[in-house]
Amino acid sequence: MQQYRNIVILTGAGISAESGVATFRDNGGLWENHRIEEVATPEAFAADPVLVHNFYNMRRAQLPNVDPNPAHFALAKLEAELDGGCTIVTQNVDNLHERAGSQNVIHMHGELSKLRCNVCLTVHDWETDCFIDTPCPACDQNALRPHIVWFGEMPFFMDEIYGLLRSCDLFISIGTSGNVYPAAGFVSEVMRLGNAHTIEVNLEPSEGASLFTECRHGKAGDLLPDLVDEIIMRD
Ligand code: OAD
Repeated sequence: MQQYRNIVILTGAGISAESGVATFRDNGGLWENHRIEEVATPEAFAADPVLVHNFYNMRRAQLPNVDPNPAHFALAKLEAELDGGCTIVTQNVDNLHERAGSQNVIHMHGELSKLRCNVCLTVHDWETDCFIDTPCPACDQNALRPHIVWFGEMPFFMDEIYGLLRSCDLFISIGTSGNVYPAAGFVSEVMRLGNAHTIEVNLEPSEGASLFTECRHGKAGDLLPDLVDEIIMRD
């Protein structure tokens, strides 16, 4: 393995699975209990804000009861020890990367621990439940919503992410099924532009596995500590 100076790491629900956070599409995945259109679209929130707030309140309340696993810690070690740039672009809305010690984390699908006001657009850090009559601390309107990117909405930070993809020399995708765009298209964007090495780490081959130059299949918590050590040793 060569030395890398600009690493982009895409993570999905699979990296948090070993921490006990349900994935979206595996057996027992979240959407089996809650149909996606009931909880994760702007239309769902308009139709039944109580249900949608309850769904995200439940998931927010789960956060203190789950801990980062060896995969999250390995990525924090990579960022700390690498003599170059290392950015995690996560589709996950949990805070396990940050709690493992990663500092350079982009939440392209939003964060459970934040709410946004639909009136004044202020984004608030939020650890407790939110209800339809919870006032915005900034403008006092009852117009708070989860700071989550719902289906049909534009993911956050896309210009920044495409800039990083264009300049990276190593792209690693971890624990994502490759079903949801634009994240599912990141590997094609990296391969189109040049010479970056691309690695998939996933329990099983994802939808896009054939697009990567290297695949490692198994549990992220088992595979990532060794992969990170290989990268650091080359540094
Ligand atoms: P998925 O649930 O679609 O995929 C999780 C992937 O992780 C699957 O391919 C699993 O095989 C793999 N996996 C499970 N356990 C693993 C482990 N221990 N180690 C490694 N891999 C493992 O989740 P995402 O791809 O993240 O969007 O889903 C993408 C987006 O779809 C989510 O961000 C969410 C959802 O709709 C929004 O909420 C906007």
